[in-house]
Order: sequence, then C-alpha cells, then structure tokens
Amino acid sequence: MYKNEMDKLLKLVYFSPTDTTKNILYKIALELGVQINEELNLTNFEYCNFEKTFNENDLIILGSPVYGARVPKTAKNRFNGLKGKNTNIVLILTYGDVHYDDALIEFHQIMENKEFSIVGIGIFVTRHNVINCIGVNRPDKNDYEEIKLFCKKLIENIKENKYISNRIETKKIFERNNKLPIKPKGNRNCKNCGLCIKLCPENAIEQKNPRKTIKGKCICCMRCVKYCPYKARNLSKIVYFVSKLFVRIMKTIKYNHENKNKIIV
Ligand SMILES: Cc1cc2nc3c(=O)[nH]c(=O)nc-3n(C[C@H](O)[C@H](O)[C@H](O)COP(=O)(O)O)c2cc1C
Ligand code: SF4
Ligand code: SF4
Repeated sequence: MYKNEMDKLLKLVYFSPTDTTKNILYKIALELGVQINEELNLTNFEYCNFEKTFNENDLIILGSPVYGARVPKTAKNRFNGLKGKNTNIVLILTYGDVHYDDALIEFHQIMENKEFSIVGIGIFVTRHNVINCIGVNRPDKNDYEEIKLFCKKLIENIKENKYISNRIETKKIFERNNKLPIKPKGNRNCKNCGLCIKLCPENAIEQKNPRKTIKGKCICCMRCVKYCPYKARNLSKIVYFVSKLFVRIMKTIKYNHENKNKIIV
C-alpha cells in the first residue's frame, strides 16, 4: 500500500452537489503530495444512512459547501455517521463569496466528540452556484497560493501532532432552516434520460416524470441543473432576475461581504 512522508492514508470525504468543494479537496490532496487512497462522495442519496469508522493511520479531508451561512442539513446528517479512532481530520468549507457566519462553529461541533483530531480548518471562497454572478473566477491564483500555505502548515501539524480544537469558538447554535424557498424544475427539453434522478442527493425528482421536483425534498443544491446533459432543468427566470438585482443593490450600498478565505491551523 502507498506510504507517504506523513505515513497516512489520505481519504477524501465530501458532500459537494456541484463539485466545487470536491475540486478544492483535490487541490489540497495535490498540495499535500499524497496519493488519494479512498474517496467517498456523500452527495449521493445511497449514503443517507451511511456509517463508517476510520483508523489511526487515516488522514481525512472532509468537505462541505455553506448553505444559508450554515452546514447543509443533508451534509450534517451524512457526516453524523462518520467516526474516528484517534484519526486526523481536516475540515473544509466552501462558500459563494457572501457569508459563512456560524457554519465554521457548526462544522466543528458536528465533528467533535467523534474521536477525530482536527489538524486544520479551511474556508474557501468560490463562485456562488445559485447566484452565479457572485464570486466569478474564484478560486483564483491568490486563493491557490493560500491553499498551498494551508497545506504546508497542515503537514507540520500532522507531523507534530498539533490540533486546533481549543481555537474554535464554542457557542450554542440554534437550528435554522437553511433551505432556499426555490427549486429547479424540468422543461420540454427533457429527454427522460434519468440522470438527474440518479444524481439528486435528496431523491427529490419524480421517477416517472423527471420534469417534476418533489416539494419539501429539494434543497436547491443545483446538481440537476449543472449535470442535465440537455440543459432541461433550471430555476425560474424570476429567481435569476431578483438575484442579479440583489447583487446590484449590494454593490450600490457597498455591502461588505466576506470575500476572504479563512484558515485555522
Ligand atoms: C442552497 C444554497 C445556499 C447557499 N448559501 C450560501 C451562503 O449562505 N453563503 C455563501 O457565501 N454561499 C452560499 N451558497 C453557495 C455555495 O456555498 C458555493 O457555491 C459552494 O462552493 C458550492 O459547493 P459545491 O459545488 O461543492 O456544491 C449557497 C448555495 C446553495 C446551493
Ligand atoms: S437529466 Fe435532464 S434530460 Fe435527463 S431526465 Fe433529468 S431533466 Fe430530463
Ligand atoms: S432536485 Fe433539488 S435537491 Fe435534487 S438535484 Fe435538483 S436542486 Fe438538488
């Protein structure tokens, strides 16, 4: 089996409907210079009751996007099935250049008391996958430089058994509905190929009529929109109109959005 300088087996675990978080994890793996030993894409519906315990010689990079400034409920439920055995873990969040608010504290709370040792947390700016006129061209060259530095520090922490848990704010976080009140649906370009039904993390697309989205199940993750080969699923034009207007207003009032990566190592 492949051994590296840190003597760890690198495992990428993620919830990443439109694959931005997954790509950041790949970049981190590349910078760590460690071959990927296992990849678990918890986005897929088949993982909704998944449980797994990792070992002492595993190094887990766990990734999630931010939804409504929090960890998406779907991701939280799937991450709850993960356990360590004195296992090193790195937590990664990606956010669409608006805000991540309590997502960092929440992510830390989800993964603590599960016998993982957290060696670093990174929160990275990406293009917003719903309001895609925000975060355009992110991650960029500077972001990749920050990822590089982050990885250097991670390697040091792993070698020196340095953990960061005591540096995360501990406060009670209240349940919040981070579901957007919008959902994509199919149009007449749909060829009934079934791909969106297979990819949907919440089984929210009707089997018999993939143009229909099941109300209450859809988390508006945009996976079906991105991967439909016929561009047959989309949000309504009004949503795009309103979101563009929102961005314009934000710019006019010079709303100071996060715009920065946050690295805790
Ligand atoms: C339902 C939903 C809610 C989101 N909420 C936020 C948010 O509160 N703040 C933010 O900056 N970005 C937000 N985003 C943007 C995503 O966090 C960002 O695009 C992320 O990189 C997507 O990751 P993925 O490609 O791995 O799915 C949201 C996206 C979705 C789909
Ligand atoms: S992926 Fe697109 S074409 Fe295929 S069933 Fe879904 S909406 Fe229809
Ligand atoms: S139907 Fe909703 S939950 Fe399912 S893939 Fe599409 S946007 Fe995501």
